[in-house]
Amino acid sequence: MSGPFFMAGEGINGALSMSNKPEWFETYFDGLYGRAFPSSDTKARAIAEARTVKRVLRLRKGRRVLDCPCGLGRITFQLAKMGLAMTGVDLTASFVRKAKRRAKKQGADIRFLRCDMRELPFDGEFDAVINWFNSFGYFDDAGNLAAAKAAFAALKPGGKFLIEVMNKSWVLSHFRQHSDGTVGGIRIIQRIRWHADTGRLFTKRTFIKGKKTENHRISMRIYNGAEMRSLLREAGFGDIRLFGHAPLGRFTRHSRRMIAIGRRPVK
Ligand SMILES: C[S@@+](CC[C@H](N)C(=O)[O-])C[C@H]1O[C@@H](n2cnc3c(N)ncnc32)[C@H](O)[C@@H]1O
Repeated sequence: MSGPFFMAGEGINGALSMSNKPEWFETYFDGLYGRAFPSSDTKARAIAEARTVKRVLRLRKGRRVLDCPCGLGRITFQLAKMGLAMTGVDLTASFVRKAKRRAKKQGADIRFLRCDMRELPFDGEFDAVINWFNSFGYFDDAGNLAAAKAAFAALKPGGKFLIEVMNKSWVLSHFRQHSDGTVGGIRIIQRIRWHADTGRLFTKRTFIKGKKTENHRISMRIYNGAEMRSLLREAGFGDIRLFGHAPLGRFTRHSRRMIAIGRRPVK
């Protein structure tokens, strides 16, 4: 493989090979991303998304939910306000720190932990695990499966795992290789390459704020409905259902986003 959007050291699966270089998701979120995207987030949007989660998973008050990854706790705090017993985990240390500080300040009873979604320290604890907003597909195929299996292990039997991501079919039919725009005062220039063989998008994204410039190379696996079903099945889930986005419509190739839900079987 070659080309400007492949990082040195990428393996056949599109994942990074063993090297001392941090993986993109270890550094990306802690940079200007953290300043660009939260500014486009509104509380209203977080509330609407939390309502969608609660409704689609039919979560009653008091149910134990793991928000993984939780970022700054955008959805975690809203679900807690709706009466759910929340735990949030994320890899980005500064996000976890800020979320903990906010919880303390608000007197919110939410547990936040820093950990990798492939290695969750939970065993049969949760009624639901949510992976919300483009937070799945960061690893090679074995790593993505490991993340789904870790969610499976964290669930009680009968518990549900929800993944909310872009729909590959939509992305490919609306594919734009270049974009250049400004979000929250930060210019974002990106060039995207689609690699059909591995099902991954390789994005070279530059953030510019004043004199500061940050370059990132992001590699992300995207899924169509059948591929998502197959991944969830391989991780052990049953009763798999797919939805389009709000209002919770039927999932089709025209759905911009995908909500996939699998249930840990009761044995
Ligand atoms: C697109 S954000 C979404 C955050 C949150 N779900 C939301 O809706 O606001 C993706 C998050 O994944 C986290 N992340 C990246 N790699 C991770 C990993 N290996 N394990 C756990 N979290 C990770 C990032 O720190 C970031 O907060």
